[in-house]
Amino acid sequence: MTDPEIYPITGDWTNASLNPKRYEDLYEAAASSPGSFWLDQATKRLDWIEPPTIAGDWSFAKADFHIRWFADGQLNVAANCLDRHLAKNGDTVAIIWEPDEPGEAARHITYRQLHAEVCRFANVLKAQGVAKGDRVTLYMPMIPEAAYAALACARIGAIHSVVFGGFSADALAGRIEDCGSKIVITADEGRRGGKRITLKACVDEAASRAPSLERVIVVRATGADVPMGERDIWYHDALATVSDICPPEPMAAEDPLFILYTSGSTGKPKGVLHSSAGYLLWADFTFKIAFDYKPGQVFWCAADIGWVTGHSYILYGPLSNGATTLMFEGLPTWPDASRIWQVVDRHKVHTLFTAPTALRALMKEGDDFVRRTDRSSLKLLGSVGEPINPEAWRWYHDVVGEGRAPIVDAWWQTETGGIMIAPLPGAVPMKPGSAAKPLPGVMPQLVDDQGTPLTGPASGNLCITQSWPGQMRGVWGDDERFFQTYFTTYEGKYFTGDGCRRDADGYYWITGRVDDVINVSGHRMGTAEVESALVLHEAVAEAAVVGMPHDVKGQGIYAYVTLNAGVTGDDELRRALIAWVRHEIGPIATPDKLQFAPALPKTRSGKIMRRILRKIAEGDTSSLGDTSTLADPAVVDDLVANRVV
Ligand code: WT7
Repeated sequence: MTDPEIYPITGDWTNASLNPKRYEDLYEAAASSPGSFWLDQATKRLDWIEPPTIAGDWSFAKADFHIRWFADGQLNVAANCLDRHLAKNGDTVAIIWEPDEPGEAARHITYRQLHAEVCRFANVLKAQGVAKGDRVTLYMPMIPEAAYAALACARIGAIHSVVFGGFSADALAGRIEDCGSKIVITADEGRRGGKRITLKACVDEAASRAPSLERVIVVRATGADVPMGERDIWYHDALATVSDICPPEPMAAEDPLFILYTSGSTGKPKGVLHSSAGYLLWADFTFKIAFDYKPGQVFWCAADIGWVTGHSYILYGPLSNGATTLMFEGLPTWPDASRIWQVVDRHKVHTLFTAPTALRALMKEGDDFVRRTDRSSLKLLGSVGEPINPEAWRWYHDVVGEGRAPIVDAWWQTETGGIMIAPLPGAVPMKPGSAAKPLPGVMPQLVDDQGTPLTGPASGNLCITQSWPGQMRGVWGDDERFFQTYFTTYEGKYFTGDGCRRDADGYYWITGRVDDVINVSGHRMGTAEVESALVLHEAVAEAAVVGMPHDVKGQGIYAYVTLNAGVTGDDELRRALIAWVRHEIGPIATPDKLQFAPALPKTRSGKIMRRILRKIAEGDTSSLGDTSTLADPAVVDDLVANRVV
């Protein structure tokens, strides 16, 4: 299949750092001699305490499985994000903080100020006994202190685990316990879209289920009156007694930098573990080439630091590059659908990196909200987290960017640490809806269900055949799960879980997850997690959850629930179950539709046939395929007849 639409490189972008030839050369250099390519990048791009002499040292094979990069090097990530910029760029603004409330003053934090704040926060942590290798959980609103806290951990070699502020007390407790963190950093409350998020209260609730927790550091953000118990201390009190001098801890390249929990197709969320040097280099390198960042530009990644996008493109990538990164506390749709564009104008944002779900929500409100703003500073656009449908792509390009700003459709994952496939601005012409071409060092391969590599134009399962510096290094506390999850489906390759098409021009088109993971508003949700939450309810015997198309969220959550004998499935119970899941996991897991089913379609061996459930949820009931292997084919008729529309 050839694609009708191709957007050539135009305007300012003919003078970008990369051009098509330079991209091809870089790709070729990284492919043909990865060792010298990455050693060169690592020594040029980062500041080392002990420079490495080896680059990648890895094997995806079972007998010899290991992944290491720059293993004999030593550095400190926070020093790379702060100290090395001070001499020349100490007065450059590192973070612009835009508050939730539109009229409120923004904050501008220079590299020098950020350095001092991070050193003080690091000393607060040290005073609490936090040492190298300890895990520290962050449950924070989008305020500068969240950045200080993460970088403070990096400075002293503690491993941060950021838990998105929208997760429930239960989800938080599970994540605290899984990594055995003794300390949580939170705030009295968060603010978003004019609403308050009761973070401290959630931590209190989580604490009763998280016995490892000893200390809670509370940042005063809204000034709400929150009860302080024996384990709690106010950050501002702790600050009073610490100095602002804190030398960075020398870290081995492979020492962990952070854990970030993400959903998979089975079991509890996994603690994805990232390294210090390899991760930092990937965040640094991909930020520079994917966004062609130049000093003076304001870069805005409109994600939350609770997700990997926030880690790599609000914090580590921009700060390692000495860039100015914008941190936004609010919501794109509040007070109205003009907010993003007003923030762009207020801070003269050059690059905006956001998710298709936000674009679709704004697009629905009409062009006027965009057109009434100036946006002339905006020269580059990014899209991340889920496939962008061509209609949203064109709106972003034509209406938001007025045709002058390329769109970097960045495909990657929590596991990859940073961007893997994207049309580099100035270097790769765009096709709406395609993530285009792999970055230097990324070796994608499509395989069929048997694992046979496919060449030329093809559709298949997306694997990566060679390690790259930003690759995750493990699942916290479960080495076997790391290997099992990613390297056994297709032996000797990293399997992404995504389906993908490659066209005749070698462009990659991600078609979505092929496993039991759904992508809701650019956030990953395991169907198994939602099912576990449902069956915890006393009325529920069994549950099966699938994704369904949703015009704003990309995918919505459709739940089939079988009730215990004697329980009647009425609207009240439906509402109660939906609220239950929301409370158990968090608002992002809220089922959009919930159908009571007398039974679920199962094979004779008892396996739920999700393919059929997906079709019914999609409303595609005319082509359910072969149902003859079902233990009781009549179950399907009931499901079809009672589909929730
Ligand atoms: C999954 C990873 C990327 C960081 C934020 C989400 C989907 C991500 C794209 C894209 C199509 C995309 C994939 C991937 N995805 N970016 N540009 N086009 N799909 O990270 O929560 O780890 O989710 O998001 O399905 O596997 P995540």
